[in-house]
Amino acid sequence: MRAIHVGLCGVGTVGGGTAAVLKRNAEEIARRAGRPIKIIIAANRDLDRAREMCGPDVEIVSDALKVVNHPDVDIVVELIGGTTIAKELVLKAIANGKHVVTANKKLIAEYGNEIFERAQEKGVTVAFEAAVAGGIPVIKALREGLTANRIEWIAGIINGTSNFILTEMRDKGLAFADVLAEAQRLGYAEADPTFDIEGHDAGHKLTIMSAIAFGIPVQFDKAYLEGISKLDAADIKYAGELGYRIKLLGVTRRRENGIELRVAPTLIPHKRLIANVDGVMNAVLVKGDAVGATMYYGPGAGAEPTASAVIADLVDVTRLATADPENRVPHLAFQPSALANLPI
Ligand code: NDP
Ligand code: HSE
Repeated sequence: MRAIHVGLCGVGTVGGGTAAVLKRNAEEIARRAGRPIKIIIAANRDLDRAREMCGPDVEIVSDALKVVNHPDVDIVVELIGGTTIAKELVLKAIANGKHVVTANKKLIAEYGNEIFERAQEKGVTVAFEAAVAGGIPVIKALREGLTANRIEWIAGIINGTSNFILTEMRDKGLAFADVLAEAQRLGYAEADPTFDIEGHDAGHKLTIMSAIAFGIPVQFDKAYLEGISKLDAADIKYAGELGYRIKLLGVTRRRENGIELRVAPTLIPHKRLIANVDGVMNAVLVKGDAVGATMYYGPGAGAEPTASAVIADLVDVTRLATADPENRVPHLAFQPSALANLPI
């Protein structure tokens, strides 16, 4: 069977990691997907970097529209970020009948309803495992592993940059601004790091998990967001002396009159498992009525951890695209339930 053809938009931290892992593990990935997965064209502002990361067989362009309009591309991978060019590219790819894989939580949390409606009309898949908690397959856990459950609540440390800052300030006494600069250097932070430190990025991820868990549309504008920018060394020190750790926690739960969506710095007793999730690590706790409380832990940001999730989606979409259309399970789309109209 011929290779599935990927068009890559953005060869930065995650795009570079995706190209590298796809090349390194090509054989195993092909075996699991049922056919080889090959990047045939990639767009990036820095053409030299794209050439270096993707190799000589890949066509390199600066105009990402060439990728989504390429007649031989089956799946468009959007790793540019933001909601301007990225939104245009994703909608155009869908209109062109191409499947989409993205790590862009802002795009899914703010425009997911429109994007999924268009994708459904065209019969294509939009997959976004990498948009939540980096390398942790938490979207898969919510959709598949926990599918028998009525989800009661989700709570998590879902911004690696904030957790890295809080950990380094606590353990090494470093200044907020210095640790943030290091998170940017390591490729953890968003292009605009305000999204990380003001709770927006965690809010985007929480919004997406909430939509999947409770069967509601994405409603980022209803989330309460408070980040870590107002915390200082004294807050962290006093919390420690009282036996607590401060974590930026996202919480979504069913309430009698709707769904709660909240991101805020939270005091957690230091013996709790989640209080010991440090550095760039993320952890997501999910309570289901049948299974009880479960916890998912792993790297929440970075080139290859995130690439791991992007490629998991590529394999899933390849299997779906290859399957007999009559037998496809539409598990990668949102499935709004009766809760859809409840206020948040
Ligand atoms: P980067 O900024 O490292 O990469 C984006 C790349 O896209 C850059 O190379 C950039 O070039 C390029 N680019 C920007 N605009 C255009 C354009 N118009 N045409 C062509 N290329 C363009 O971001 P990340 O890789 O960190 O993030 C990508 C996405 O993944 C974002 O949505 C982010 O939220 C998400 N994500 C990131 C994680 C991480 O750990 N970094 C983890 C999980 C998700 P230039 O640098 O020259 O602007
Ligand atoms: N900026 C994000 C974080 C990247 O720090 O968690 C992963 O989504």
